Amino acid sequence: MPQPEDWQNGGFGLYLHWPFCAAKCPYCDFNSHVVAHIDLERWQVAYLSEIDRVADEIGNRILHSVFFGGGTPSLMPPDLVARIIDRVARRFRLRNDIEITLEANPTSSDAARFQAFARAGVNRFSLGLQALDDDALRKLGRLHSAAEGLKAFEAARNAVSKVSFDLIYARQDQTLAAWQAELAAALTLAPDHLSLYQLTIEDGTVFAERHRRGLLRGLPDEDLSAALYEHTVDACAAYGLENYEVSNFAKTGFESVHNLIYWRSGDFAGVGPGAHGRLTLDGARLATQTFSAPGAWLKAVYLTGSGEMPRERVPRLEQADELLLMGMRLSEGLDTARLERLAGQPLDEEKVQSLIASGHLWRNSTRIGATQKGRLVLNALLSELV
Ligand SMILES: C[S@@+](CC[C@H](N)C(=O)[O-])C[C@H]1O[C@@H](n2cnc3c(N)ncnc32)[C@H](O)[C@@H]1O
Ligand code: SF4
Repeated sequence: MPQPEDWQNGGFGLYLHWPFCAAKCPYCDFNSHVVAHIDLERWQVAYLSEIDRVADEIGNRILHSVFFGGGTPSLMPPDLVARIIDRVARRFRLRNDIEITLEANPTSSDAARFQAFARAGVNRFSLGLQALDDDALRKLGRLHSAAEGLKAFEAARNAVSKVSFDLIYARQDQTLAAWQAELAAALTLAPDHLSLYQLTIEDGTVFAERHRRGLLRGLPDEDLSAALYEHTVDACAAYGLENYEVSNFAKTGFESVHNLIYWRSGDFAGVGPGAHGRLTLDGARLATQTFSAPGAWLKAVYLTGSGEMPRERVPRLEQADELLLMGMRLSEGLDTARLERLAGQPLDEEKVQSLIASGHLWRNSTRIGATQKGRLVLNALLSELV
């Protein structure tokens, strides 16, 4: 029986990066910039031209999702979002129930704005609440209070039917009891989807510099981190939110269509500064990446008709590693036959058996994945298997 192309196992999405924020949060290493002025007309021309370029290449493929990520896409004028969605709809074949997500920051999100984004075609918001505690929000450098965050959540929910929010835990001096109370408060809001991230100290951020100088005290040790994660999984499960990916929790049917494309090693096109893509064209899997600096991207689009840097072919063995790295994050795990097709060989059976025996891996007749115990030591687990 002919096999589907590998990307078809994961779907096809379009990522659009908006690289600007009102302020830079001290923990964040995303491609985000604070600028005094944005020439919106030039940006609009560039986005539309990049959408056309990608669409010309993609042909007839059905698009499952669009994701406006950042940076802070809720700072985009709703009119620009509308024009972009309109162009995408003209140039791509859209799945009937296409998911169109926009990341929003409570600081730039009043009710009228959410409604305007919804009219533009956005049908899902992912809101960066980060904490439900004013003191913690201040320490995270956020410009909004907890009450403003909650108000934004309500406004987002009045505009569309799917709203997720992000919280960062394992923060400075955060006890297990404090996180239990904060998560319980989050769950009383009846979310259908949550992204719950442990604070990570990323190179090049203000937090990394403070950490290096010994000024970022009170971060959890390994045991507390594990206890925080275990409680997170249990509390969400009790509320009916499955831990479908390491940091993501959803009721059935509310999983992020777009992010699942990444984790299932589907195809995705990336438009905007620093956007990555994976495209299968003429049987070859290509890694695409655009210029990261906003000015460099804009200039490249205007001068050469493309914001992309040279593409690279992803060898099959590397594709197998990516499938493993991504799939192990998912509760559904990954398709072992697909992995073997890409790698040209099965996983080391002895290693797999011993990791199953130690409770880190599970396996059935078609799939393999990490258990909750395995997820706690995911990096070590992956380095055993890759
Ligand atoms: C692009 S932002 C979301 C939208 C918007 N920019 C905002 O911050 O409200 C992506 C998310 O990544 C998470 N994040 C970023 N840096 C992080 C870090 N160092 N540790 C944990 N989570 C982080 C935050 O929860 C943040 O909401
Ligand atoms: S967390 Fe969000 S708002 Fe803060 S700098 Fe990063 S992208 Fe911008």
